Amino acid sequence: MSHATQGKVSASAVRPMASGRVFNFSAGPATMPLEVLEQLQADLVDLRGGGAGILEISHRGELFEKILQESEDAFRKVGNISQDYAVLFLPAGATQQFGMLPLNFLADGASADYPDTGVWTSKAIADGKEVGKINEIWKGADFGYRRTPRAGELKTTPGSTYLHYCSNNTVWGTRWVAPPQPAAGAWLARDASSDIYAEPLDLKGCAFLYASGQKNLGPSGMTMVVIRRDLLKAPVRKLPSMLRYDEHAKAESRLNTPATFGMHAVGVMCQWILRQGGLVEMQSRAKTRSDLVLAAIRNSNGFWKANAESECQSFVNVLFHAANPKLEPLFLKEAANAGLAALAGHKVTGGMRASMYNAMPVEGAKALADVMVDFAQRNG
Ligand SMILES: Cc1ncc(COP(=O)(O)O)c(C=O)c1O
Repeated sequence: MSHATQGKVSASAVRPMASGRVFNFSAGPATMPLEVLEQLQADLVDLRGGGAGILEISHRGELFEKILQESEDAFRKVGNISQDYAVLFLPAGATQQFGMLPLNFLADGASADYPDTGVWTSKAIADGKEVGKINEIWKGADFGYRRTPRAGELKTTPGSTYLHYCSNNTVWGTRWVAPPQPAAGAWLARDASSDIYAEPLDLKGCAFLYASGQKNLGPSGMTMVVIRRDLLKAPVRKLPSMLRYDEHAKAESRLNTPATFGMHAVGVMCQWILRQGGLVEMQSRAKTRSDLVLAAIRNSNGFWKANAESECQSFVNVLFHAANPKLEPLFLKEAANAGLAALAGHKVTGGMRASMYNAMPVEGAKALADVMVDFAQRNG
């Protein structure tokens, strides 16, 4: 249902959107800015007046060279990423990195530290264990995944090669308040799939960062890897070329015929972020959006309950339950009727999850908060 026809949401909360578009709270693939979609739509048919679309031109041709360079430049500019790091556009999603990271860097007999803070780190740990020794140094399951480790709580492993962590836990709606400190001599690897470019990027102490595209950056199937150049050497074991970071870097992310559309879309999305005012603005919007929804929870006299402990609350994924879970299907139905889509929580958590990445207008969060308040008043 479009916003023009929605019922209980106040008129002031309604964003003038293209007819038929909803406020889409999907955790990923997620909503994208209309102007980005419209540019990509035009580029599908005719890219820069060349008479062919982005899906139709060679990944080795002059025009695509320029497009890829522009995407990398925009990506670097948004994150203020220095040339000490290579930027790779890799296929197969962030999940591919769960295996590639240890395959390249975790030598036989060595180990790596992995705090488990949710579904995605559990998967990274499982894949890591297929390759080598993974030290599960913190178990979020002991805390119902409602928080991440507190300062001083992590016991890192002397001699470990790296520490892998996920800065924002998409499924449970928690974030790290500050990055963990790896063991002496070890480096930090960060899964930033759901919070990349939702706040200023701090690469201090981080040698390796990866993020799938489908939340803050554009389409799925595209993974950005930011890797400190000293790590771009032959891997610790023999690997096929597609699994080697050094080979991807040498081939400028075109070892094979790559996902050219995704490479372009990330660039268009990064240009949009720059036009909006960059990461300080993205952070401010993320905070405003999450504050709106959290206030609706806090002021509901216990009708709504947030999942995350407040100091670890994610700014982009807000999970909440109704104190009376029987009301949740009705809420989801009413929200959908009000043009608020994809609010159902992940299958492991149940409840509701409002994913509000860069492209979610603040008005979307306002509309959700209004519907939550109204629903609590009528059903409390
Ligand atoms: C934090 C995090 N890491 C990894 C992934 C896996 O990404 P992909 O599905 O692109 O492989 C996701 C997907 O939602 C995620 O949220």
